[in-house]
Amino acid sequence: MSEFVDKVSKRRTFAIISHPDAGKTTLTEKFLLYGGAIQEAGMVKGKQNMRHAVSDWMEIEKQRGISVTSSVLQFNYDGFCINILDTPGHQDFSEDTYRTLMAADSAVMVIDASKGVEAQTRKLFKVCAMRHIPIFTFINKMDREAKDPYELMEEIEQELGMDTCPVNWPIGCGKQFKGVYERESKKVIRFVPVQGGKKEVQEIITDYDDPELIKEIGEDYYATLQDDVELLDGAGAEFDLERVHRGELSPVCFGSALTNFGVEPFLHHFLDYSMPPQPKQSDDGPIDPFNEDFSAFVFKIQANMNKAHRDRMAFMRITSGKYTKGMEVFHMQGNKKIKLSQSKQLMADDREEIQEAYSGDIIGVFDPGIFSIGDTICTPKHKFKFEGIPTFAPEHFARIRNTDTMKRKQFVKGVEQIAQEGAIQIFTEIGGSMEEIIVGVVGVLQFEVLEYRLKNEYNVNIKREPLGYQFIRWIDNEEIDLYSLNLSSDTKRVQDLRGKYLLLFSNQWGINWATDKNKELILSEFSKN
Ligand code: G4P
Repeated sequence: MSEFVDKVSKRRTFAIISHPDAGKTTLTEKFLLYGGAIQEAGMVKGKQNMRHAVSDWMEIEKQRGISVTSSVLQFNYDGFCINILDTPGHQDFSEDTYRTLMAADSAVMVIDASKGVEAQTRKLFKVCAMRHIPIFTFINKMDREAKDPYELMEEIEQELGMDTCPVNWPIGCGKQFKGVYERESKKVIRFVPVQGGKKEVQEIITDYDDPELIKEIGEDYYATLQDDVELLDGAGAEFDLERVHRGELSPVCFGSALTNFGVEPFLHHFLDYSMPPQPKQSDDGPIDPFNEDFSAFVFKIQANMNKAHRDRMAFMRITSGKYTKGMEVFHMQGNKKIKLSQSKQLMADDREEIQEAYSGDIIGVFDPGIFSIGDTICTPKHKFKFEGIPTFAPEHFARIRNTDTMKRKQFVKGVEQIAQEGAIQIFTEIGGSMEEIIVGVVGVLQFEVLEYRLKNEYNVNIKREPLGYQFIRWIDNEEIDLYSLNLSSDTKRVQDLRGKYLLLFSNQWGINWATDKNKELILSEFSKN
C-alpha cells in the first residue's frame, strides 16, 4: 500500500451533535486527551475554558454560552487520524450544522441518559438523516440517575425513526452504576470509582463468566445482566454493518464522559465500524478520495475569527489527493488558478499552520473574499464541479437600514460578507439599492448575530424592522415578466444578490394563489447554485 493510500484509509471525519448540555464538549475533550492533542487535562477542564479556547470564536457565543459556529479539531489515535467537526448547539443554526455535515462522513450523537431524545437532538438528527450518513450514539451521564436503557433505545427508534443496536449495555446507573457489558467480547468493563477522586474512575475488565464479577457487582445486578444479555441476543436488531453505513442502524454505547468511562471503548467501536473518506458526486461522476489529484469543496466561511488578525477563512473538506502548503490549484467558481496558502488546522487552543493534509481532512484557508459556500477547488488538469450545497429557505425576514449615511460602504461590505458566509440571506427591492435590505434568516438568533457583528466588526449601527413574511420561493423561469404576475396583495417581489427573482409570502394561502393564478410560474424552495 502506498503511503498516500495508507494515510487516506486511516482518516475518519465525523460531526458531533447533541442537545445543549448532553456532554458534547466533555466527550470531545476526552477524545482529544486520548489523542494527546491536549497535554494536560487542566488546559481544557471545565467547559468555560474549553469553549473559549477552541469552540467559540465570537464574543456573542461567550455571552450567551452557546456555540454559534462550528470548529474543527484533529487528533491521532491508534494509527488513525480523526477529524471532529463540532456543530452549533442552538436550533437557529441548523443550516450551519447541515453544511458541517456535508463535510463529515459520519456523526456522533450524544444523548443525556436521564433526558433521552431532546428537542435539539430531534432537529439535528433530521439534518443528519438528510445526508444518510452513519450515526453513532453515545448515551452519556450513566454515573447519574438514568432512564431505563430499553426505554432509551425505544425512544431513539420511535422518535428518530432509526434502528438501534447496543454495542454495550449498562449495568445499573447513578450511584449504582457498575459498568458496561461488551456484547461482542462478552467482557464487562467495570466502573470503579477511585477513592478520594471525585471524577476519576477506573475501568476494570472482567470476563462475563468470571465468578469474581458476581462478587464485585452483586448477585442482583448479575442476575439482571444475565436476563438483559439473553434478551438482547434474542430480540434486539441484528448488527448489520451495511445498514450502519447507510445510516439506518445506529450502534449505541453507554458511558460517562465526565468520568472518562466508556469513552475509549466507544472510540474503538467507532473506528471499527466507521468508514474512511467516501467518494463525492460531481458533474464528472464520483470523485474517488484515493485519487492523488487534489480536490476540495468549501463548506464554511468564517470571518473575523480573530479580531487581532481581522481574517476570513474558508473551510474546505479535502475530497481527494493531498494538500501541500502553497500548492497551485484551480478554483472553479472563480475560473482561476490560485495558490493555497496560510492553511490552518485547529488544534486545541491554537491554530497551527499546516504543511500537508490528506483526503478526508479539513483545512481552513485564508480567504481574500473569493470563496463562496459550495465552491469546488481542483487541479488545473482535471476540472469538475461538485454538486452545490443547498441553501435553506429563510423563515424570518426583516428590513434593515444603516442609520449613519456616512458609513454606507461599511454597511454594504458587512452585510455582503456576512451573507457570503451563509449566516444570512439578503434581498433587495426589484431594481432597488443596497441602502435598504431585506434580510432572511433560518433562525431569529441570526438577526442578533448580524446586528452584533455589524456593530463590532464593521462599526455600523442598523435599524431593524421585522417583516411578516414566512415563506420564500425562487422563481425558476427567469424570462417571466414579474409585473404581469397575478399575486395576492401581501406577496412581495424581491431579488437576490445574483439578480434572481423571488417572491416573499405571508402565508401558504399566498403561495397557492400564485401557483393557481399563474400556471406558467415555476417556484422552488431552494436556490439552485
Ligand atoms: P454540551 O457541550 O453538550 O453542551 O455539554 P457539556 O460537555 O458542556 O456538559 C454539560 C454539563 O454536563 C457539564 O456540567 C458537564 O460537566 C456535565 N457532564 C458531561 N458529561 C457528564 C457525565 O458523563 N456525567 C455527569 N455527571 N456530568 C456530565 P456543568 O456543571 O454545566 O459544567 P462544568 O462546570 O461541570 O464544566
